[in-house]
Amino acid sequence: MSSSLSFESISHRFGTEQVLDDITLTVPESSCVALLGASGSGKSTLLRIAAGLLDPSAGAVLIDGEDVTALDAEHRESGLMFQRPLLFPHLSVVDNVAFAARMAGRTKAEARRQAREYLELVQLGEYARRMPGELSGGQEQRVALARALARQPRILLLDEPFSSLDLRLREDMYDLIDSIRDQLRPTIVLVTHDRREAAILADTIAVLDHGRILQHAPVARIHHQPASPAVNRILGGLNEVPGVVRAGAHHSPLGRIPVPQDTPEGPGLLMPRQESLQLTTDDDARPGARGTVTQVRPSGAHSLVRVELEPGPGEAPVTVAIEVTGTPALRPGDAAGVALGGVVGWVVPL
Ligand SMILES: Nc1ncnc2c1ncn2[C@@H]1O[C@H](COP(=O)(O)OP(=O)(O)O)[C@@H](O)[C@H]1O
Ligand SMILES: [Mg+2]
Repeated sequence: MSSSLSFESISHRFGTEQVLDDITLTVPESSCVALLGASGSGKSTLLRIAAGLLDPSAGAVLIDGEDVTALDAEHRESGLMFQRPLLFPHLSVVDNVAFAARMAGRTKAEARRQAREYLELVQLGEYARRMPGELSGGQEQRVALARALARQPRILLLDEPFSSLDLRLREDMYDLIDSIRDQLRPTIVLVTHDRREAAILADTIAVLDHGRILQHAPVARIHHQPASPAVNRILGGLNEVPGVVRAGAHHSPLGRIPVPQDTPEGPGLLMPRQESLQLTTDDDARPGARGTVTQVRPSGAHSLVRVELEPGPGEAPVTVAIEVTGTPALRPGDAAGVALGGVVGWVVPL
């Protein structure tokens, strides 16, 4: 049931406001691409354009290479799911899921038989006869997903579908999406402002900011090799260390950090993830940088330790954040060492 989806130079204006600016992006068949961005960055607008609910001001939408820009929503064969389930309150669960098939002219019995299969898939087989008002929020979202899948869409378009669920239910939905990806291999565009959700569910993340795609890359790469400080921040990266690249390494108060061979020489920002930095002790063999703890912020199983590094001659002081397990016995004012554990540095030229 899956197809590839491409946006080609999509731009959109509402009145004089430029909401999308030259978006080019391909979602390969059976993959899941997350559109990650802050509220107002244009995510829902792009999804509505994919669904055929909105005509772009410029550009084209392609499904399996075919231009569908002029095709209306009914004929796009996309399955949609939103933050709210939008079930028909007067129809039973099974008839909500059977609705599209009924509209397409199937008999009631056939439409219901097929709907029950999709309810099984979302683990709600027992709830077929209930009314939407008799479901929990998580169950309603499962019905909405079954309804979207029952249309046998070529593309599944999900607009923040889990953001109103509590954390536990959200985790259950992530498991469900995993199992549906295994079984049906749908092509998915997931809109979210939650970078953790994007990282869990998607193969690649496209970071959207003020209507532009700043970077589109596989999940691990976009975390460790952000194209810009803006992407680093949107992905929760806390560190930007100014320095100079020469002779294969970045030189800064963090020390001499080897960088990929094709890194341009000259001034550059090193962006090590807080998870990749480690605290070192005085008797540690690793060649770490030295500094002073400025903050220790526990957050349950982890803590964030901020250390102001001692600048070398001609360098400005810089503070880095290090994520550690548990709560370290450190206080502001304590001396600390910092090292980048076994990772090649990532630098964006300044
Ligand atoms: N129907 C509309 N008319 C006018 N402006 C709109 C409309 N829909 C969205 N916008 C504006 O477009 C921008 C992007 O909105 P949206 O795509 O909903 O962002 P997101 O989903 O990333 O939060 C916002 O500034 C929003 O106010
Ligand atoms: Mg939105």
